[in-house]
Amino acid sequence: MAAGAFSLQGRRVLVTGAAGGIGRATVRLAVEQGAQVIAVDLAAAGEIAARCGLAEADCQRLDTSDRAAVEGFVAGAGRIDGLVDTAAICPADDWMAPDWDEALQRVLAVNVGGPINLARALLPAMAAQGGGRMVFCGSIAGWMGGIVSGPHYAFSKGGLHAFIRWLARRAAPQGVLVNAVAPGPVETAMTEGRGYRPENYPLGRMAQPEEIAATAVFLLGPGAGYAAGAVFDINGATHFR
Ligand SMILES: NC(=O)c1ccc[n+]([C@@H]2O[C@H](COP(=O)([O-])OP(=O)(O)OC[C@H]3O[C@@H](n4cnc5c(N)ncnc54)[C@H](O)[C@@H]3O)[C@@H](O)[C@H]2O)c1
Repeated sequence: MAAGAFSLQGRRVLVTGAAGGIGRATVRLAVEQGAQVIAVDLAAAGEIAARCGLAEADCQRLDTSDRAAVEGFVAGAGRIDGLVDTAAICPADDWMAPDWDEALQRVLAVNVGGPINLARALLPAMAAQGGGRMVFCGSIAGWMGGIVSGPHYAFSKGGLHAFIRWLARRAAPQGVLVNAVAPGPVETAMTEGRGYRPENYPLGRMAQPEEIAATAVFLLGPGAGYAAGAVFDINGATHFR
């Protein structure tokens, strides 16, 4: 581990959801560790660049729920050593509403379909280049049903936890290490105005995005060389399993 446990020097990292709270914190931290970062989001490249402090050329609009778009992007992106996938949605709605099934399909397409699209596109290339890392975002909601989120979100994150375990077993023999982080409530656009009560949590506050990004970035580096198939709970003692 001559380069240091946390160093991403010489590594090329793809971050999705990069215009969001945890995504942009991940981009900044990965850059600090020496990575060359490619940042994607539903947002336009200029907006991603402004939020992440990157050059616009390193940013691109990409809908991770669109399989063809993800495959096209990966085919043209060159070598990618690590992925941190933070793209997800958590709509506030009523599951009894007549049109709710559309919301269900969209949540599953983004929160479960997105990770599958990315993993399916990246795994063969990472295996061929001798290895790689994938970090996905689960959630405390995937373990205990959520604090404020709806059933589609909790279901999608529980599914994500199962998916990374399925994938980790198949990817590890190819040198590709797959893990997830499962945050508790984090101060980002996803939670803003949703009625969280930080004073009720053991630490008396919600997490900052950087406190989730740090584990994701660690999982890309030399120090995490034996982490595979793990879901790292970062919830300030809000929930144990
Ligand atoms: N904020 C929390 O409390 C919390 C808790 C647990 C887990 N998480 C997870 O952490 C991850 C990041 O969440 P955040 O809090 O930074 O949310 P955020 O809303 O700030 O950022 C999410 C980003 O994903 C992007 N995105 C949405 N759909 C997309 C798509 N189809 N393709 C590409 N990009 C898309 C959005 O444009 C946004 O920029 C998510 O997976 C979320 O489920 C968040």
